[in-house]
Amino acid sequence: MTFLRDTWAEVNLDAIEWNVKKMREFLSDDVQIMAVVKANAYGHGDLEVAETALESGASMVAVAILDEAIALRKKGIKAPILVLGASRPEDAPLAAAHDISVTVFQAGWLVKAERHLGIHPLKIHIKCDTGMGRLGVLSFSELNELVQMVKQSPQFIWEGIYTHFATADQIDERYFQKQLTMFDSWMEQLDEKPSMIHASNSAAAMKQDSKKFNAIRMGISMYGLSPSPEIKPFLPFELKPALSLYTKIVHVKRVEKGSAISYGNTYVAEQGEWIATLPIGYADGWIRKNQGKDVSLEGIRVPIVGRVCMDQCMIKLPDYYPEGTKVCLIGEVVTIDEVAERLDTINYEVACMISSRVPRIFIKNNQRKAVKNIILDQTP
Ligand SMILES: Cc1ncc(COP(=O)(O)O)c(C=O)c1O
Repeated sequence: MTFLRDTWAEVNLDAIEWNVKKMREFLSDDVQIMAVVKANAYGHGDLEVAETALESGASMVAVAILDEAIALRKKGIKAPILVLGASRPEDAPLAAAHDISVTVFQAGWLVKAERHLGIHPLKIHIKCDTGMGRLGVLSFSELNELVQMVKQSPQFIWEGIYTHFATADQIDERYFQKQLTMFDSWMEQLDEKPSMIHASNSAAAMKQDSKKFNAIRMGISMYGLSPSPEIKPFLPFELKPALSLYTKIVHVKRVEKGSAISYGNTYVAEQGEWIATLPIGYADGWIRKNQGKDVSLEGIRVPIVGRVCMDQCMIKLPDYYPEGTKVCLIGEVVTIDEVAERLDTINYEVACMISSRVPRIFIKNNQRKAVKNIILDQTP
């Protein structure tokens, strides 16, 4: 792919490797890691993250929708893939043909899918709603009905059962424990178990003494980010953030006192000032709420002045800097957690928001993978 702009996201695959290996060391050997790479690996690049995670100790990947799963198969991922969201029963043959496991939580779905399925059997994970209120069967009897239907049909392979926690990233564990107890009791009542039982996301997986069953679904921690600010001080091992966002100054000007900057004249220079234009805006996921907030210019914090435009925004420089000077919007000085806090959201959303128009550059073994027409300095 060719990119003709000096705005890019850097994804450090060595950090992904570190985070997965740390999780691997933390878990007991009988617990598999499923690498959650939905939404283009939380904006990091699905193929590269999936490959790195699988090389580093994950044995399976998970995505949200069937399109993402098929895209990964087409890009060459051979490991098992689970679709966590709902799929359509008429697409069951497509999932089966690509050896993709799907999530099921309705008896009617199984009846319809069975009619569509042909030669390939479909791998099924049954989802239990123990308190998330999103997808899943709501009682053990409903679960057992689905289990019997799946077991009785030669067109289905019963591969897994799982649930999802709503509050694992909070210090108050009461609701989490309630969900865990319910899921555990449902699992105990089963007369036969599938090969995979999983419940934990990153936050639950990183709790020291909670039951992990035999697989976990590792998302945000694989990207080196804490599931919430609240539990960040208590994480059991160091996480290394993988994503940074960069651009380069494309225009520098000295403006006079009283000069207005950007749409709506919301910023007016209080004195003679150096103002630089950056080629990144809200169409890149660098949204308007970043107005007035800092970016890092060679390690110094400088503010975004005036409105963020669709493709550009302006910063106030402490002095003259030449065009081509690198600016870091997300990285070591201004962390993704800081950006999330200022935007009144979570780090997950900030990473996912960086649009497909921003090229991703991957660092592996401390080396940048070349991307045509992007001129970078070679020191990561
Ligand atoms: C069902 C399910 N499992 C696991 C995950 C991964 O969670 P986390 O990114 O908090 O590790 C997600 C992410 O939202 C999810 O929806």
